[in-house]
Amino acid sequence: MNKTVEPAKCLRGEITDLPADKSIAHRAALFATLARGESVIRNFSEAADPQSTLQCLRDLGVPVETDGNTIVIRAKGRKTFSPIKSEIDCGNSGTTMRLLSGMVAGAGLPVTLTGDASLSSRPMKRITEPLGLMGAEIETAEGNRAPILFRPHKGLHAIDYPLPMPSAQVKSCVLLAGLFADGETRVTEKLPSRDHTERMLGLEMDFNADGTRVLKSSREFEVRPQHLTVPNDISAAAFWMVAASVIPGSEIVLRGVGVNPSRSAVISILQRMGADIRVTLPPNMQASQAVGEPVADITIKSAQLRPVSLLETEIPNAIDEIPVLAVAMGFARGKSEVRNASELRAKECDRIAAVAEMLRKAGIKVVEYKDGFEVIGGGAGPCEPAEHASFHDHRIAMASSILALKGSGPSVITGADCTAISYPHFYRDLSLLAD
Ligand code: S3P
Repeated sequence: MNKTVEPAKCLRGEITDLPADKSIAHRAALFATLARGESVIRNFSEAADPQSTLQCLRDLGVPVETDGNTIVIRAKGRKTFSPIKSEIDCGNSGTTMRLLSGMVAGAGLPVTLTGDASLSSRPMKRITEPLGLMGAEIETAEGNRAPILFRPHKGLHAIDYPLPMPSAQVKSCVLLAGLFADGETRVTEKLPSRDHTERMLGLEMDFNADGTRVLKSSREFEVRPQHLTVPNDISAAAFWMVAASVIPGSEIVLRGVGVNPSRSAVISILQRMGADIRVTLPPNMQASQAVGEPVADITIKSAQLRPVSLLETEIPNAIDEIPVLAVAMGFARGKSEVRNASELRAKECDRIAAVAEMLRKAGIKVVEYKDGFEVIGGGAGPCEPAEHASFHDHRIAMASSILALKGSGPSVITGADCTAISYPHFYRDLSLLAD
């Protein structure tokens, strides 16, 4: 599908039903299968990626009931799985493939995890290596890519694993495998990545003398059933935060957004750029802390932005928001910088190359580096209208659409249907907010 996006005069209104947080939805469903008893997950996302997780679980023999956006999973602890298919399709979802790999390896299931063309081109050595060290029997396609074939094994043993890159998916994969292993698995992360796994499971942690965190899991750890309402996704909210900031005369409210501190750097980065963003935690903090995941309303008014340089510690925290932050940088007068971010090249597409192409097409200067980019923003805009490719990447399609709102004429986003991966009603919300 090609989508024509007209320039917007301003953005006004409120969104109460942003898509539910993808990272939390995946985890809630996956972790439910490791508990004994009934889990009830409300506000589960309708987006394609979390739905891939549900389909994988069904194909692994897990009874999953749905009633609208509510999911009910009744599980029997670590022995819940009884695969009804040998090929389990993770679709476009890296989180599904990498987290499920930890569980499939742990349970010793003889299945193959497959994915679409984009997922089959993404690096998997980062999970197959530690799982192999734990005793898993794994075969991958050439170049350590999916499909990933798992064979039964004699049982996993714990490892002490320093993460080679900041990645919540790798951290979670190893800790989930650790839930099936003999001994205590320890994962050390130098730069903190999103902490939903440890929060939602209630895992124990230690701190090294240098302040780095060590997360722990073991076969003895009891996984409790999940009872939660999934907060709305800050990664989806980020598109509107940037749009309302850069389009003069805008004022919008985004309700019920998850503001977990390991995910909300996008807010502090935009505020550092001069954005007018107010975060209001509900008066009843108890209610806002369902499963320890804080939720807030976010109000954004337009403001003239300043350039910014992202800190190394902010990169894992804001990794999925960097494409749309690059759009914000395009309308700040002067040089903004994103470095130490080579992980962007290993996402649904090479997001460094895609961001550079997107901005250049709109007439904004960019310098590309191996590990990031510089944007030389020209101030308030407008930018040039263009035909933008989505690269089959939902976040690139949506970032290009936000950029197009600032065009001096209509732009076209080709392959825009990939927005359904994380935000099926993105274009509905765009027409609701844009004037
Ligand atoms: C995710 C972690 C991040 C992020 C992805 C979701 C998660 O990936 O980019 O969209 O839910 O754990 P990495 O762990 O590879 O950085």
